[in-house]
Parts: sequence; structure tokens; C-alpha cells
Amino acid sequence: MGELTIRLPQAFACPVKSYLVHILVRLGSAPTLHRRCPFSNIEIMNDSTIVVAGATGNLGRRIARALLERGASVKALVRHGTARDRLERLQELGVTIASIDLSSASQMTTACSCASCVVSALQGLRDVIVETQTVLLYAAIKADVPRFIPSDYSIDFTKFPPGENRNLDLRRDFHKRLDKTSISATTIFNGAFADMLTGQMPLILFKRKRVLYWGDADQRMDFTTVDNTAAFTASAALDPSTPRFLRIAGDQLSARELTAVVSEVTGKQFRLFRAGGLGMLGTFIKVARTVAPGEKELYPAWQGMQYVRNMFDGRAKLEPLDNDRYPSIRWTTARDVLSAH
Ligand SMILES: NC(=O)c1ccc[n+]([C@@H]2O[C@H](COP(=O)([O-])OP(=O)(O)OC[C@H]3O[C@@H](n4cnc5c(N)ncnc54)[C@H](OP(=O)(O)O)[C@@H]3O)[C@@H](O)[C@H]2O)c1
Repeated sequence: MGELTIRLPQAFACPVKSYLVHILVRLGSAPTLHRRCPFSNIEIMNDSTIVVAGATGNLGRRIARALLERGASVKALVRHGTARDRLERLQELGVTIASIDLSSASQMTTACSCASCVVSALQGLRDVIVETQTVLLYAAIKADVPRFIPSDYSIDFTKFPPGENRNLDLRRDFHKRLDKTSISATTIFNGAFADMLTGQMPLILFKRKRVLYWGDADQRMDFTTVDNTAAFTASAALDPSTPRFLRIAGDQLSARELTAVVSEVTGKQFRLFRAGGLGMLGTFIKVARTVAPGEKELYPAWQGMQYVRNMFDGRAKLEPLDNDRYPSIRWTTARDVLSAH
């Protein structure tokens, strides 16, 4: 097929381009699009530019990589002072780095220009999740970016009220601002990162051959690997018609089912261990928060316990799932994660 070249007037280039590409790709006639960015004067051909904030982090770097694998151009917004090795790893992937002051609205706006989506994988407390993300959001809007993916990647916090999980309340506060804007936003809910089953998450006690649970051993929970979450986020970032919420889970299983899987994978007999009821867990959270508040830490012990309570009480369960939305993604199960461990 001959090459189809479209030159767009500069004023219309950014918002119109991704929509045109979408239509033409569907018609089997992907164009080569040439346009000039009003701020950065970059010529972009035949792909989308996705801006990623937090691309130096664990999830963000994998999102950047998955975007590049899908043919997008990726621009990472990084703060001054980010560790050099983190930047080098991104540059080796082929990511363009914009080292800016993330509290500067004008610098953020310039950096967001010509993107078809801004993806946030920032991590932090109120100053980052509410304040820095707000600067990023308003910059995206000012730069006419049509779509925004906030740094949520969690259990479904729309299903339980504020006050139960500090870190998720921060995301909820950011949503209050996000939902007042006209940008098309998509939150991705993925449950817990399945990778944490091998250590970080206090569920499988490998040395004691126990699977710890609170409340109901048959309550299913959602687990998705960081890589699967990144792949899905990248596909969503390049998809011009995503809804406000997308829900994914590489696996859904209860403590009882997890016990069977870990026993089979290790060849050792694991047993269930009931730590207590959800009421007792609530009391432990209050006591831990009083004696070791660590309010300025991202994950003090009581915060981890808040996540565990939210998962075991079932309200944050993800349904219906959108796993089939991008058929090329192969979902990694808890068994896969434990087998690889
Ligand atoms: N569902 C789950 O089980 C689960 C588990 C973990 C994380 N998550 C979520 O995944 C998302 C990303 O987390 P992650 O673990 O990938 O985080 P991470 O590895 O700690 O990376 C955090 C990113 O945010 C940037 N950042 C941190 N503080 C900043 C600040 N004050 N100003 C500007 N940038 C700042 C870091 O930049 P520098 O490189 O400059 O420090 C880095 O790029 C978060 O929404 C997190 O809640 C979900």
C-alpha cells in the first residue's frame, strides 16, 4: 500500500491526530502524520506521543517500555535530581526525557504539548498524589491533551467510603478535582500487584508454610502483575475511547485457593492460618497507627494493614473485568508468579 501523508494545520494537529490515526488504522490505511509541536517543534510521524510522569519508577518504567513496544513515542517528565541510573535506564529504552520542575505549571504545559494522553505513575503522599498530579492535570488540559490516566492502579476504592485507607483517600481527593474537568480520564484498577505474593505482602508465610488470612478464607481477591498492569495501561493510553474505569485481574483467588496453589508449586504442604476477624484487624490498625504513626511514610505498618482489610472484606473486589479488552495481553496467574519465584 502506498504511503499516505497528511499534513495538519498546527492549531488542530495535536487533538485531531490521534483520532484520525485511530479511524485510518481501523480502515487498514495507517497514515504517516507530519506535524509540528507548537512548543517543542518535534515532528511526529505515524505514532502517538504519550507523556508519562513517574516513568523512573517501578510501574512507570514498565508502562514506558510497553508503550514503546506498541509503537508510541514516550516522553518522561522527570524531576530535577532524579537518580542518574534511573534516567539512563529510560534513555536506553528510547524514552525522551523532559527534566523539569514538576511544580511549574508552565514547564509542565510545555512538556505535555502534542501528547495524545498523559499517564501518571507517580507515587507519594498528598504533595504528590494530590498536588503534583493536579499541576500535571491542569497542564495536560492547557496543552489540549485529550486524555489522562491518574496514578491509581489499586483495588476499587470507589466501592468503600473514605476513611478506611489513607493512601487511597488521597487518590479519591485527586479524583474530586479530576472529575470536575472535561478531560477524558481513565482509572485502572488492578487489585494488588501479584509480584508482592512472593514476599512484600504478608499473606504467604513461606518459612512457616502458612497462608495467613483475616475473616473469610474463601473471600476471593484480585492480583495482577506489575508487567500486566503496565501492558494494559499502555494499551489503554493508546486507545482513544476508554471509559472512566477499567478493571483487570491476572488472577482472582481466595486464601484457601492460594494455599492449594502454593502447596502444589512448592511441593510442600501449606496450611491456612486465621489471624483473626476483620473487627480484630480494625483494632490492630488503630493500635498500630497510635503507637507507630509514621504519617509521613508511604507504607507504615498500619497502611499495609488497611490494604489487607480492604481486600479481605470483599468490597473492593473487581467486577466486571475488562481483561479481554486488549486480546494480545497474556495474563500472569498467581501460580505463574509463585512458580517463577
Ligand atoms: N496495587 C498495588 O499493589 C500497588 C503496589 C505498588 C504501587 N502501586 C501503585 O503504582 C503506582 C506507581 O508506584 P511505583 O511502586 O511504581 O512507585 P515508585 O517505584 O516508587 O516510583 C515513583 C515515581 O514517582 C516519582 N516521584 C516520587 N516522589 C515524587 C515527587 N515528590 N515529585 C515528583 N515525582 C516523584 C519517582 O521519581 P524519582 O525517580 O525522581 O524518585 C518515580 O518516578 C502508584 O500509584 C502506586 O500506588 C500499586
